[in-house]
Amino acid sequence: MSLCQHADEQGKKVFWGLEGLYVNETEICYIDNDSGKIYYRGYDLEELVKYASFEEVAYLLLYGKLPNARELEEFSRQLRARRFIDSSVIDLLKMLPADAYPIDVLRLSIDYYCTRKKFINTGSLKDNYELAIDLISKLPVVLAYFYRISKGLDVVLPREEFDHPANFYYMMMGREPDPVEYEAVKTIFIIYADHSLANSTFTAITVASTLSDLGSAIIAALSSLKGPLHGGANREVVNMILEIGDEENVEKFVKEKIERKERIMGFGHRVYKSSSRGDPRVPILKEVARKLAEKKGGKYLKVFKIAERLENEVTSRLGSKGVRPNVDLYAGVLLYLLDIPPDYNPAIFAISRIVGWVAHVLEYWKHNRLIRPLERYVGPIGLKYVPLSERE
Ligand code: ACO
Repeated sequence: MSLCQHADEQGKKVFWGLEGLYVNETEICYIDNDSGKIYYRGYDLEELVKYASFEEVAYLLLYGKLPNARELEEFSRQLRARRFIDSSVIDLLKMLPADAYPIDVLRLSIDYYCTRKKFINTGSLKDNYELAIDLISKLPVVLAYFYRISKGLDVVLPREEFDHPANFYYMMMGREPDPVEYEAVKTIFIIYADHSLANSTFTAITVASTLSDLGSAIIAALSSLKGPLHGGANREVVNMILEIGDEENVEKFVKEKIERKERIMGFGHRVYKSSSRGDPRVPILKEVARKLAEKKGGKYLKVFKIAERLENEVTSRLGSKGVRPNVDLYAGVLLYLLDIPPDYNPAIFAISRIVGWVAHVLEYWKHNRLIRPLERYVGPIGLKYVPLSERE
């Protein structure tokens, strides 16, 4: 037996996890670690959170510019008009186990929808925008319906006068969000809408680069997002905080996690580990969470305070190697403050990030190139085939 020694495979650096590699050019999202800012299409995310509606941000990401009043009205009208889902989808939701993971429910419902429509990549931008707007509008409805069906509650019909975040909250919780709750839902939706080439977005463009269809790219992206190292972390964060149970236990919890060399959820980020400023989304979400926690008090304030203590404890112990809070720490907390069960957290991430996935896929197709990297073979070659009867 000899080890593979092909000349063209020698001396080639392997970029594990594609870390530090540029694989694409984009005009959608820019993370500026020097100034600690994130830009969507050139606009400071912090300003968008403060001044823009979710619909404006979605339009900006999808079409490359802020809409004027007429464009915004038309885009919002389209989103509102598509909030109704086929009764067969409701039947499908009723067949699922009540404790199914909501992100799997979203994936199944998109698969069902695209299979029924026989959706295929025709190369038509119009068809792709149609599908995108339909899915952006319908996914929150599917999620809210599944929540209520799985709890044995009556489903709540959409309300024309509510915008996208308010309507989702209303359909899920059965009541209108108050202004602080509305701010929380809108902030989460805007903040989660894009984040450059996250694993799920890369997955989406990888699938799209074969000229498969937009629906398939989104389904693949959902599968990536589910993982606890990515979008699944906001679920783990809440479960971890509930397990810690009290501020007093934070120090011991963190110390033991570090001793066991275990990952602490809601901390660390590939893009921010060499930046002293950390993830710019954290302070934005934290302030909204603080406001809501102080308003609600009780167990909600307790969860916020555990998160804050965790932030301090982990940063002081691991900050020197770049481990600081990431978006999912306070997003998870905020979703808890909104009474969303933790299993729903990754799905809520998805109903927002779908905007970014679509924007990136459509942009990638403008200069499509099949994504097909190399792997360096390090196994044996020249092994002799042994008949089954002679093998030990
Ligand atoms: N807890 C404890 N230690 C950590 C953590 C963490 N959450 N994250 C990184 N580290 C440590 C590593 O053990 C490593 O230490 P070492 O040098 O002593 O071996 C060092 O920090 C560098 O870690 P890397 O593995 O190089 O970090 P990487 O960039 O590969 O990981 C990741 C990024 C996967 C997000 C990681 O930080 C992690 O697992 N975090 C927890 C899960 C999480 O919150 N994911 C959500 C990310 S945000 C998003 O996707 C929306």
